[in-house]
Amino acid sequence: SDAELHDRIRAAKATLGDRVVVLGHFYQRDEVVEHADFVGDSFQLANAALTKPDAEAIVFCGVHFMAETADLLSKPEQAVILPNLAAGCSMADMADESSVEECWEQLEEVYGDLATPGADGRVPVIPVTYMNSSAALKGFVGRNGGIVCTSSNARTVLEWAFERGQRVLFFPDQHLGRNTAKAMGVPLEQMPMWNPRKALGGNSAEELTHARVILWHGFCSVHRRFTVDQIEQARREHPGVQVIVHPECPMPVVDAADAAGSTDFIVKAIAAAPAGSTFAIGTEINLVQRLAAEHPEHTIFCLDPVVCPCSTMYRIHPGYLAWVLEELVAGRVVNRITVPDTVADPARLALERMLAAKP
Ligand code: 13P
Ligand code: SF4
Repeated sequence: SDAELHDRIRAAKATLGDRVVVLGHFYQRDEVVEHADFVGDSFQLANAALTKPDAEAIVFCGVHFMAETADLLSKPEQAVILPNLAAGCSMADMADESSVEECWEQLEEVYGDLATPGADGRVPVIPVTYMNSSAALKGFVGRNGGIVCTSSNARTVLEWAFERGQRVLFFPDQHLGRNTAKAMGVPLEQMPMWNPRKALGGNSAEELTHARVILWHGFCSVHRRFTVDQIEQARREHPGVQVIVHPECPMPVVDAADAAGSTDFIVKAIAAAPAGSTFAIGTEINLVQRLAAEHPEHTIFCLDPVVCPCSTMYRIHPGYLAWVLEELVAGRVVNRITVPDTVADPARLALERMLAAKP
């Protein structure tokens, strides 16, 4: 039963004490979040992995790319464990290393040697990958003078990139790239999309010459469901409602909302509001429902009336959490995520550039 599972998790954690730290992303279900030592957005969880140097094991209740990142940032002897190895991210899977390498070669044909700075001291293109990508892609970025961003620091990172490059190749999420660059004043006609199935990504050499941000064609299947119609309906039905959405939503949705930001931004905006506020939130349902339960002084609902969980985040069932913890008690490490050294060194470089980039 559920109660038994929770008792098993508690007992295993009590036995392990400081030897284990359990991290939980905001999108995890409540039954998992209640056992997490730290809950946060993907940027905070990357830092959390750094702040527990004494734990032998980091159990990451989130998705695969987050566990890889924790492995990159933790000490070599620390084991990072993903309770269910099937917890991936469909957006991260939309940019694979070979397609990005191929894109890079084609860009070289248009812009010339990508490592040689032009007269303004900047190289032709800086690659930027969203945290929601494989370690292999973070490695690609690290090898090619690029950097990682999350939804909470995308603007700071793009500013870093424009100091060093004339343009940015941004992957995998077109929406985060477009929304961030638009807020920085980059015109839409200078943000071509790159379709890896077409020559030059489906663009002319002329279009690419004028490009400032080249957007990979990836998206999040949860966040692309939100619409401007839903925002209009929320405003009709709840006068005074504040609409806050995640920047993985399509541009018209972000433009129509009152604010857009990472999961942590959403959590903090709600916590700071005067009692009696009404919020319509455009992000994953587990977080929205938890916020509604934690803030009875507000009215909080999801913009999308049809429940929209992240199906892969949901694959971290408490049963898997109990299993990996009990295995640790028995001295066995299961479901360990390790990034090979050849990938890890450049990937870590790209992450460290992000952690050092200041607004
Ligand atoms: P955050 O960076 O806001 O935690 O978002 C992660 C994510 O997967 C959003 O879909
Ligand atoms: Fe990936 Fe979207 Fe799920 Fe985030 S919400 S883990 S981007 S599929």
